Amino acid sequence: MGLSFPLILIVRFLVSLMMFYLILAASSSGVQPLCHDDERFALLQFKESFIINQSASRDPSAYPKWDGVECNKDTGHVIALDLSSSCLKGFLNSNSSLFRLAHLQNLNLDDNDFNSSPIPTSFRRLSRLTELSLSYSVFSGQIPSEILELSKLVLLDLSYNPLLKLQKSGLTVIAQNLTNLEVLYLDQVVISSNVPNILANLSFLTNLSLRKCDLHGEFPVGIFGLPNLQLLRIGINEYLTGCLPEFNRTSLLVSLRLGSTNFYGELPDSIGHLKSLVRLTACYCNFSGEIPSSLGNVTNLNVLELQSNRLSGSVPQSISRLVNLELLYIHDNNLSGMVEFELFLRLRSLSHLQLSGNNISLLTKASTNSTFPKFRILLLADCDLGKFPEFLRNQDQLELLDLGGNKIHGQVPKWVGNVSIKTLGALDLRYNFLTGFDQLPVNLKDLLLDFNMLQGSLPIPPPSIASYSVSNNRLTGEIPHLICNLSLITNLDLSSNNLGGLLPQCLGNLSHSVSLDLHGNNFHGTIPRICGEASKLMMIDFSQNHLQGRVPRSLAKCTKLEAINLGNNQIHDIFPSWLGILPELRILILGSNKLYGTIRSSDSNFKFPKLQIIDLSNNHISGKLPSEHFQNWKAMQIVDAESLTYMGKIQTLGISAESTLDITSFYSITMINKGTKMEYEKVPDFLIAIDLSSNKFEGEIPEMVGNLNGLIWLNISNNFLTGPIPYTLTNLTRLESLDLSQNQLSGVIPPQLTELTFLSHFNVSHNRLTGPIPHGKQFDTFNNSSFSDQNPELCGNTLSKKCWNPEDSLPPSSSHNSEFAFDFGWKEIVMGYGCGFVFGAMSGQIVVTKKYGWFMKTFGIG
Ligand SMILES: *[C@@H]1O[C@H](CO)[C@@H](O)[C@H](O)[C@H]1NC(C)=O
Ligand SMILES: *[C@@H]1O[C@H](CO)[C@@H](O)[C@H](O)[C@H]1NC(C)=O
Ligand SMILES: *[C@@H]1O[C@H](CO)[C@@H](O)[C@H](O)[C@H]1NC(C)=O
Ligand SMILES: *[C@@H]1O[C@H](CO)[C@@H](O)[C@H](O)[C@H]1NC(C)=O
Ligand SMILES: *[C@@H]1O[C@H](CO)[C@@H](O)[C@H](O)[C@H]1NC(C)=O
Ligand SMILES: *[C@@H]1O[C@H](CO)[C@@H](O)[C@H](O)[C@H]1NC(C)=O
Ligand SMILES: *[C@@H]1O[C@H](CO)[C@@H](O)[C@H](O)[C@H]1NC(C)=O
Ligand SMILES: *[C@@H]1O[C@H](CO)[C@@H](O)[C@H](O)[C@H]1NC(C)=O
Ligand SMILES: *[C@@H]1O[C@H](CO)[C@@H](O)[C@H](O)[C@H]1NC(C)=O
Ligand SMILES: *[C@@H]1O[C@H](CO)[C@@H](O)[C@H](O)[C@H]1NC(C)=O
Ligand SMILES: *[C@@H]1O[C@H](CO)[C@@H](O)[C@H](O)[C@H]1NC(C)=O
Repeated sequence: MGLSFPLILIVRFLVSLMMFYLILAASSSGVQPLCHDDERFALLQFKESFIINQSASRDPSAYPKWDGVECNKDTGHVIALDLSSSCLKGFLNSNSSLFRLAHLQNLNLDDNDFNSSPIPTSFRRLSRLTELSLSYSVFSGQIPSEILELSKLVLLDLSYNPLLKLQKSGLTVIAQNLTNLEVLYLDQVVISSNVPNILANLSFLTNLSLRKCDLHGEFPVGIFGLPNLQLLRIGINEYLTGCLPEFNRTSLLVSLRLGSTNFYGELPDSIGHLKSLVRLTACYCNFSGEIPSSLGNVTNLNVLELQSNRLSGSVPQSISRLVNLELLYIHDNNLSGMVEFELFLRLRSLSHLQLSGNNISLLTKASTNSTFPKFRILLLADCDLGKFPEFLRNQDQLELLDLGGNKIHGQVPKWVGNVSIKTLGALDLRYNFLTGFDQLPVNLKDLLLDFNMLQGSLPIPPPSIASYSVSNNRLTGEIPHLICNLSLITNLDLSSNNLGGLLPQCLGNLSHSVSLDLHGNNFHGTIPRICGEASKLMMIDFSQNHLQGRVPRSLAKCTKLEAINLGNNQIHDIFPSWLGILPELRILILGSNKLYGTIRSSDSNFKFPKLQIIDLSNNHISGKLPSEHFQNWKAMQIVDAESLTYMGKIQTLGISAESTLDITSFYSITMINKGTKMEYEKVPDFLIAIDLSSNKFEGEIPEMVGNLNGLIWLNISNNFLTGPIPYTLTNLTRLESLDLSQNQLSGVIPPQLTELTFLSHFNVSHNRLTGPIPHGKQFDTFNNSSFSDQNPELCGNTLSKKCWNPEDSLPPSSSHNSEFAFDFGWKEIVMGYGCGFVFGAMSGQIVVTKKYGWFMKTFGIG
């Protein structure tokens, strides 16, 4: 197949070119003039103004189809031109010969690459246009008002040109001037306005699609009432609000999609009038109330997505009448009560069902029935199931099964290992009371058994496994060497068990592994060599064990590593500055070990170019603070406050021939220090933190620290630091937590520190500081314990020594505890089966949130 593709392409290309010339040649040979000479010439010129490049079209079967020319038989004028998906690349200029085709009525240039050209104003000359389609064509800039004056337009499609903007009043102008419109598609065009009521005056409108246009305000209810409306798609406009109207029996709506908007209120009973409705997507909104039982009258429904709202009450019985349903997603609401699973078993077409994340108790009968629907995706987490439901025995096409958060006890029955034995790719059994299993489907790629009561030695999943996690169980013994035979494994999580012994040397053979989490066990001995050549490893977490010896030098080969957590072990080594060679390393946790010696000035090859979070706390490191490293840590010197991205990775797991599961993993982090807590469920790309506390650092705090502009968290407390607090700290404008306590710092607190407007935790207690406490701004919110105790010369109203100006002081407060922790996590989110589901193309939003225990670490000092 793969080989023949280019041939087909070439053949089609030739054929279509020939057709193009045939049409043109016919007229020049004087037989029956099909097209006017000048228009023929204009077409040729138009063609020549572009290059053909396969990557200019998204459609993989695109080809330069010059056969899409239609001339009027009588007049010889070109009246239609369809060059969609024709691999055209180049600018479309205002003087393009295209605009000489003044008789054009239909123009379709979808899916080409016009190189971010603005849409030429010359479209004005094509005033006879009734259909204009320019979607997916890489246009940019403001849509010219000339387009909005093509008053004969019946179809206007400018969708999926994300660089294109509509003028503020654009929708109003369209409503006023393009009164014949039947189809208006502006998806992913930047509109950034509300939707004017007047749009409801477009009485011929059948299809309106405004997905992801940055719309806001209240959506005009009149639009729902347009008599011919079949398709209304306004999803992914988070600030667009509105309510659903009373629907009429006369409604022709086929597809209603409002996912990821702020629509609210109840789903009206009259929704039952939408006899033609095939698809209802209202997920990720703010709908409340009950699911109306009248929905059972919408028997043409094929896709029903109501997940992630605030719907309550019971699942209506009438749902069993939706015999055409293929997809039913009502998870993540507040539905309650007993639900007979029989209800769904009557829906023979159903293949995708998600009920997780409600308060329902699912009742399943023991009977099996071979006429059951064949599920592909079945998510029944948190459904109060006491055992594996019998109907599963008949399922042979499941790809994804989630029975997490139920109350299933004991050994996994043998027959479960045969459920969809060939197709099952992902099985989630987390948060149950399972003690073990014998057999599992042979093609399993993703197996989640975290938070159960698995006992004995580590069960080995089938060789197909890619992601295996059994964290938070009661597994004992050593890691069997058989684990190293899992040659496809990418993610292995054995954390928080009672596993022990030595780590198998062969772990380094898992050449596909991306993550390795063994934290919270009793492993001892040294850390094996981990990375071979071309290692894909992105993170290791061996923290909270009893590992000894040095940081293995083989880590230097793990060139993809982003995060290393070896904290809370007994590693006896000097600071491994050679890790600075890792080009991707962002998180390094070595706290609570036995690191010793001084941090030597860094080799020029070891610059830690991406390091953002470092924890060396609770070791025995001595000497000066590593100012040269501070200079090298370039990633910490960037202030990127605008970034809304998070540290993480998307891995695509093929779970069956047709579908893939995108697993997005994000790091999470909690930093706790003496009563302050900073918690990030996802670590934003801008998070920068240094913890060097509880070591034996001495000397002054280098001024260089002021270079680390992006720092948000700095803890160098409990060392032997002397000298002044450097004024350069005022450069750290992002700083939220600063702990310099328990040192021997002297001098005054630089008054400029009051400029650190984000600072919410500040501690300089147990030092030898003198002079007044700065006041104003943030400093007025800090309490006594930030400053007090053994700073005998520090004065302030709440301290025993008063300053001359009582206004300098701070209000008293409760004492702080001395809790202290730096807590890492890794949170996995499965994507792929979410809102806006498209059959065949798995795209969408978050469905299941998986909380893996990666990088867990807690420790305390007095
Ligand atoms: C086609 O476009 C791609 C992406 O813009 C570019 O990398 C490639 O060089 C182009 N090929 C030709 C033949 O111009
Ligand atoms: C069209 O205009 C562009 C600049 O906008 C110019 O480079 C090009 O030569 C012009 N082409 C013709 C045919 O006039
Ligand atoms: C609407 O069309 C009328 C005539 O068709 C034209 O005069 C007017 O400028 C157009 N309005 C806008 C805002 O384009
Ligand atoms: C829109 O329709 C309403 C009611 O049909 C009418 O009163 C109003 O004049 C129309 N607006 C325009 C600009 O045509
Ligand atoms: C229902 O019908 C009435 C009268 O025919 C009309 O005014 C109203 O806009 C319609 N509403 C909807 C939502 O279709
Ligand atoms: C309009 O929407 C209907 C219903 O979804 C659809 O069948 C039809 O193809 C759409 N028409 C156009 C031109 O996109
Ligand atoms: C959801 O809707 C309710 C009204 O039903 C409103 O009070 C609340 O503010 C809305 N929530 C959000 C997040 O908009
Ligand atoms: C469903 O439709 C039937 C007939 O059109 C009607 O009698 C019934 O009330 C409807 N049921 C609901 C729950 O709306
Ligand atoms: C969930 O539904 C129950 C009633 O079933 C209600 O008491 C509760 O307030 C709802 N919770 C939320 C968060 O809406
Ligand atoms: C299977 O279900 C169908 C429809 O619900 C029913 O007619 C049939 O009797 C059932 N068969 C068995 C063996 O239960
Ligand atoms: C303060 O930050 C600026 C960049 O914002 C940098 O150029 C300067 O060297 C820093 N000053 C000190 C003392 O670190």
